[in-house]
Amino acid sequence: MEKEIMKGIVLAGGRATRLRPLTLITSKQLLPVYDKPMIFYPIETLIKAGITDILIIIAPDYSGHFLNLLGTGEEFGAHFSYVVQKEPNGLAQAFILGQEFIGTDSVTLILGDNIFEQDFSPEIKNFKDGAMIFAKQVHDPQRFGVVEFDQKMKAISIEEKPISPKSNFAVVGLYSYDNSVISLAKSLKPSARGEYEITDLNNIYLKQGKLKVNTFDSLWEDAGTFDSLLRVSNYMAKKSVK
Ligand code: DAU
Repeated sequence: MEKEIMKGIVLAGGRATRLRPLTLITSKQLLPVYDKPMIFYPIETLIKAGITDILIIIAPDYSGHFLNLLGTGEEFGAHFSYVVQKEPNGLAQAFILGQEFIGTDSVTLILGDNIFEQDFSPEIKNFKDGAMIFAKQVHDPQRFGVVEFDQKMKAISIEEKPISPKSNFAVVGLYSYDNSVISLAKSLKPSARGEYEITDLNNIYLKQGKLKVNTFDSLWEDAGTFDSLLRVSNYMAKKSVK
C-alpha cells in the first residue's frame, strides 16, 4: 500500500483590520517579526515537522506580494501552491478550498499569524487518523478556542471565545486531520458570527472520540495584535543575540 502523505496548509488570508494602518501596506502575514516576514515562521514549523508539500491560502489583496516573496518554495526546500480565498468566511473553509490539493492524504493546518518555537515532528509523524490539536495555558483564554478537560486530562468540550472559559487552555493554530476533514468541513453551518468554525469541526471529532489534544508549554504567539507582534519581535531579537 502507498504510504499516506501529510500535506500542509498555511492559512494566510483575512482582512486584519486590527493591524491597520500597517495592513494597508501589505498583508498581516508579511509584516516583519524582527528580521523576517511573519509567514516564514509557520512555514518553517511545517517544514521542521517534515511537511514540504504546502498550500498557502491568501486573500485577493496583496496576493502578488506572497508570490514574489515565496515563489515555488524551492528556496525553502519545499513545494508551494496557492489558492485565493475571496472572503474570510472562516478557518474551516481551508479544507474546502484545499480539497484538490489534499486529495486522499492527511493534512496539517497552521495559521499564518501563529508563531511557535517547538519542533512538532514527533507528534505529526506519529499522527494516524482522526484529529490532533494542541493547547497551551494562557492568561486570556476568552480570546481563543478553549478546551475543557476532566480530572484525567481528557478533553470534554471546546468552546470558541467563551465569555466564561471553563479552563485557561487555549487551542493554538496548529491542527492535523485525516482525510475525512474535507467531508466534515462541507457539513458545517456558519456560526452566529457568520464563519465556518474550526472549533465546530474539532467538536465533531471530539464527539466521535477521535480528537487528540496535546498540551505544551513552549513559545506560542498569535501575532495578530500590535502588542503580540511587538512581543514576539522582541523575543526573536533577544534570542538572536549571541
Ligand atoms: O490563534 C488561535 C485561534 O485562532 C484559536 O484559538 C481559535 O479557536 C480560532 O478560531 C482562531 O481564532 P482567531 O480569532 O485568532 O481567528 P482569526 O479570525 O484571527 O483568523 C486566524 C488567521 O487565519 C488570521 O491570520 C487570518 C486567517 N483567516 C481567518 C479567517 C476567518 C483566513 O485566512 N481566512 C478566514 O476566513
